[in-house]
Amino acid sequence: MKVLKTSLSAAAAIALTFTAAACGDGTSSGGDEDTPFIGVILPDSASSDRWETADRAYLEAAFEAAGVEYDIQNAQGSREDFQTIADQMLTSGVNVLVTVNLDSGTGATVIENAKAQGVATIDYDRLTEGGGADYYVSFDNERVGQLQGETLVQCLEGVDTPLVAELNGSPTDNNATLFKNGYDSVLDPLYDSGEFEKGPDEWVPDWDNAQGGTTFDQMLTDTDGQVDGVLAANDGLAHAVITVLERNGLNGTVPVTGQDATLQGLQNILAGDQCMTVYKAIEEEANAAADLAVALAGGDMPETDATVTDPESGDEIPAVLLEPVPITIDSIQTVIDDGFADYAELCAGEYADLCDEAGLQEQ
Ligand code: BGC
Repeated sequence: MKVLKTSLSAAAAIALTFTAAACGDGTSSGGDEDTPFIGVILPDSASSDRWETADRAYLEAAFEAAGVEYDIQNAQGSREDFQTIADQMLTSGVNVLVTVNLDSGTGATVIENAKAQGVATIDYDRLTEGGGADYYVSFDNERVGQLQGETLVQCLEGVDTPLVAELNGSPTDNNATLFKNGYDSVLDPLYDSGEFEKGPDEWVPDWDNAQGGTTFDQMLTDTDGQVDGVLAANDGLAHAVITVLERNGLNGTVPVTGQDATLQGLQNILAGDQCMTVYKAIEEEANAAADLAVALAGGDMPETDATVTDPESGDEIPAVLLEPVPITIDSIQTVIDDGFADYAELCAGEYADLCDEAGLQEQ
């Protein structure tokens, strides 16, 4: 079994305190095989670029570094495929199953099947309500929403009684509810006091970007084009909104929020079409999940600093919750310095001059 402490990332080292059990004698402590085998199911590649461009790469790197076997697959938005992949992984003998659910119902079934076979489970990024996974690894998602709300308010400074449209994430993603709780905690008091005007407020099933665009188009029609700011829950939805604003000659004058610090999101910020994104250090998230998976495969149950309450079962799930960082035109360099965004890719072609203007430099 691998020595766990040496493979911990800085963030996970702070977040986790290992129990002393099974330390020191160098013997295996409960894994089925000498080399742990870890299965990961990602949700799709359309709702956000992050899953295939960031999460997959960082998880692979973490598993490689830990010297474990792994299988990372993507359900591509299909609940049926999600379940089939899980069944196949269980049949092929994974010791730990790490999942990003497409909704809590199908996610919980998969966790239940894993448990029935003695396979440990980790909810990665999204909590499976009523699922009872062994661990939850994510960010402080209410804080993500708060940062979106606070930065939108800054971007709207000087606008008289701005009308804000809210384009929420998927109603079946617990994170989308947490994001909304976060930004509404900032915006609701402003609506109540009359400083801001509450505009249309809609959820986007499965975070479907195209549907988000259609929904926003309708919002613009319903308000006679009077939207002053848009709380879009992630960069994909933000881009769909910006495309509609462009068609109406409004891009750049209506601030739009985002999340994930995707290449497209950062470029939209450079172009002045998006007012912010939220950077979540996915490398730390992937490292924390990999560390926990390796521990679980070895029969260890590391203690975590945090827990979250499953809203359905009321159970406390041991959790690693990382800190999100707001990014505006003034702080894009942070994402480059962290190695998350590649300067050459970000600043290619038409973005070269904009990068210079923003003072961006190679890592
Ligand atoms: C994740 C976001 C992502 C969204 C759509 C959420 O659960 O936390 O980072 O943008 O799903 O995939």
